[in-house]
Amino acid sequence: RIAPVVLAGGSGSRLWPMSREQFPKQLIGIVGPASLLQSTVQRLRDFAGARDVAAAPIVVCGDDHRFVTAEQLQASGAQARIIAEPARRGTAPALTLAALAACASSGDAIVVAMPADHAIADTPAFQRAIERAADHAERGAVVTLGVPPVRPDTGFGYVRLGAALGDGAHRIGRFVEKPAEELAAQYVASGEYWWNSGIFVVRASVWLDTLERLQPEMHEACVAAFANGRGDGPFFRPALEDFERSPSDSIDYAVMEHLGSDATPAQGVVVPLEAGWSDLGSWDAVWDALDKDADGNVARGRVVFEGATASLAHSEGRLVACVGVTNVVVVETDDAVLVVDRSRVQDVKGVVERIKAGH
Ligand code: GDD
Ligand code: MG
Repeated sequence: RIAPVVLAGGSGSRLWPMSREQFPKQLIGIVGPASLLQSTVQRLRDFAGARDVAAAPIVVCGDDHRFVTAEQLQASGAQARIIAEPARRGTAPALTLAALAACASSGDAIVVAMPADHAIADTPAFQRAIERAADHAERGAVVTLGVPPVRPDTGFGYVRLGAALGDGAHRIGRFVEKPAEELAAQYVASGEYWWNSGIFVVRASVWLDTLERLQPEMHEACVAAFANGRGDGPFFRPALEDFERSPSDSIDYAVMEHLGSDATPAQGVVVPLEAGWSDLGSWDAVWDALDKDADGNVARGRVVFEGATASLAHSEGRLVACVGVTNVVVVETDDAVLVVDRSRVQDVKGVVERIKAGH
């Protein structure tokens, strides 16, 4: 049985100023009218595979966002189970709560964990990749979907391809999360690495066992938070006192980078995802995912380009004019305007942290 899980608790600070603390990127429509969360759930619902797929996805989000999340899911007709995290601890604890919920309701399901910040053009191809990943997960592997890289993006994890497994999948030779630019460029040039799409497929019991070996404190805190949690209408609310004790870490750093080490018997497998995948994690990625005019520009809202190339301008109100610029992103909102070079979009996160800290 497949248990779809959506990780929707990120802050999306690299998409500031559209993405805000109160309204993070998964709750807004970055590329279309539906929010990223709504399109993610839709993609899972359309699953036409032969397997038994649980109708209600498990959505893990921050406690602060539980009502908007529930409203959006309801508006898109999705019957979801919502786990509201009492504190933000990153994706590894979030997936662990979901794995515990999946085990509690369906024994040992295969968890398909989807980030809520992706666009995928070809849903049937996506579903075929999930089917294939589920075959490997069934046999005990921790599987990620991989995408051939097209630029040395430092916002991604990189998977070195190990032994071929015959069906297009490979053993994970090595997993490197967010390498420095120079390293990322080497990886892309070598042709031996794929991007980690961030879509993970793993048996709930394998995940829990692997986490217990690699991150015992995190495992303990999540198990206790789940055991001491309570139902609250459509929400499940893990216990704050326990969850707070969990170290904060991502799936990538906490587990993926350590697969195949002596500490865990679990094998990593990467299955190719050829489905027009794009991460909408940064403004550069958004530019990449959208249709461009002949000069490579993307205009959204009241925007005029004059002699500009390879740029994106997004206006929510005021008229934005871009003259003679190249590789620039401009995002205009009510109370903030961002102007950033497309090669520096990863640094937006740092600026948001500075603004929050008050300087
Ligand atoms: N519930 C919950 N709790 N969800 C979270 C949390 C959390 O604390 N933190 C992040 N998320 C959600 C985000 O909303 C997003 O949908 C997903 O988990 C992934 O988190 P990101 O913060 O967007 O990760 P990333 O983009 O930096 O990196 C990951 O994705 C890349 C591909 O897009 C990694 O897996 C990389 O290796 C990968 O290449
Ligand atoms: Mg992301």
